[in-house]
Amino acid sequence: MTYPQTIYVHCNWIDIVRHLGGTPMDWTSHHMRRIPASGTLKIFELASRLESEGRKIYHFEVGQPDFPTPPNIVEAAVEALHGGLTRYVSARGINPILDAIRDLYAARGIGVSGRKNVIVTPGAKMALFMGFLSTIDKGDDVMLLTPAWPSYRVMIEHAGGKPIDVVTDSRYTINEEAIKEKITSKTTCIVINSPNNPTGGVLSREDLKIIFDLASDHDFVIFSDEIYESLVYEGFKQISMLEIDPAMERTLVINGFSKAYAMTGWRLGYAVGNPETISNMVRIQQNTTSCATSFVQYAGVEALKGDQSFIDEMRASYQERRNRITEIFCSIPDVTCVNPMGAFYVFPDFSAYGIPSEELAEQILQDTGVTCTPGKIFGEHFDYNLRFSYATSIDIIEEGLSHLKKYCQTLR
Ligand SMILES: Cc1ncc(COP(=O)(O)O)c(C=O)c1O
Repeated sequence: MTYPQTIYVHCNWIDIVRHLGGTPMDWTSHHMRRIPASGTLKIFELASRLESEGRKIYHFEVGQPDFPTPPNIVEAAVEALHGGLTRYVSARGINPILDAIRDLYAARGIGVSGRKNVIVTPGAKMALFMGFLSTIDKGDDVMLLTPAWPSYRVMIEHAGGKPIDVVTDSRYTINEEAIKEKITSKTTCIVINSPNNPTGGVLSREDLKIIFDLASDHDFVIFSDEIYESLVYEGFKQISMLEIDPAMERTLVINGFSKAYAMTGWRLGYAVGNPETISNMVRIQQNTTSCATSFVQYAGVEALKGDQSFIDEMRASYQERRNRITEIFCSIPDVTCVNPMGAFYVFPDFSAYGIPSEELAEQILQDTGVTCTPGKIFGEHFDYNLRFSYATSIDIIEEGLSHLKKYCQTLR
């Protein structure tokens, strides 16, 4: 028996087994099938290939600090390891870190009970995921202020929710009417992220109040991802949603150590919210990850309680890089770029060239060795933007972007 050639060319093994009359064992769940592969995979693969061929690659796609974790934090983890603090701990978190988080908010005038309102998690990502699983029912609408970090969308879909984009502008400025238009009887949550990845935009107290009032009027909850809160520039003050909703009636704040203390690989984050949501998240954690890694939590205590001058130094360095990168983008005719107030990203607009972002990012990489992240992965509406992380040296910024600037001239 012969089979058409196309079976071998276009089908995977499951299709082949089915064609042969067999019943294949299918390991992939229906909902997993709906989750697309990472939108940045193609760029990563191409960058790795070019690097292995000896090409110089300028990395602007990486969303993590290029600073090492401060030595006092490393030391605290080593001490905890030598002290035998290597066993399971409470799923909510160890008392010293719960108290340190309580004190952190108390210093800002926000009353938080470490034992009721806080959970410590393996990274902010897990806090978000457990928060969504605790809150969203199948078919619920979840509003996402876009551009938005792509993991929100994937997590919301995993939890059975439907992400509904609410588009902001390149400064992450909200529009009350645009939010109202997207509210339905199924709206359960809104996800906000200030300072924002990818625009670096920061929501004002007035913006947060508008969101809180809409949430109260229409009875939905607010997931406020504040992981970049310590990275705001020019003395600008970041406002926590907890300042607007101190009773935590409808707010879950997500935060973590990755960005503020250069601890991305340690996996340490937390959430602050009402006792009901937090205890639901504790139940999920008990039955999944068990707890955030014990000795890492002791390092987290040192991060919060120890010398904070590292944050000021890191922020000053980012501010200098931000000024330089924005200056260079503003000097490229046809590209528009706003000076972001926080985080470590710029999100320039390349729409004048009319090339969709995935294609443009690939062309730029091929031609100049500069890697960046296509705007489309942050929301359909942003297909002519590219995200550049300036968590890299001034030298790389100047060298890489001089190539990019020349390349842009060829597109005119
Ligand atoms: C907006 C935002 N939230 C959360 C995270 C994840 O943080 P963590 O490393 O604590 O899981 C990131 C990481 O890039 C992020 O950009």
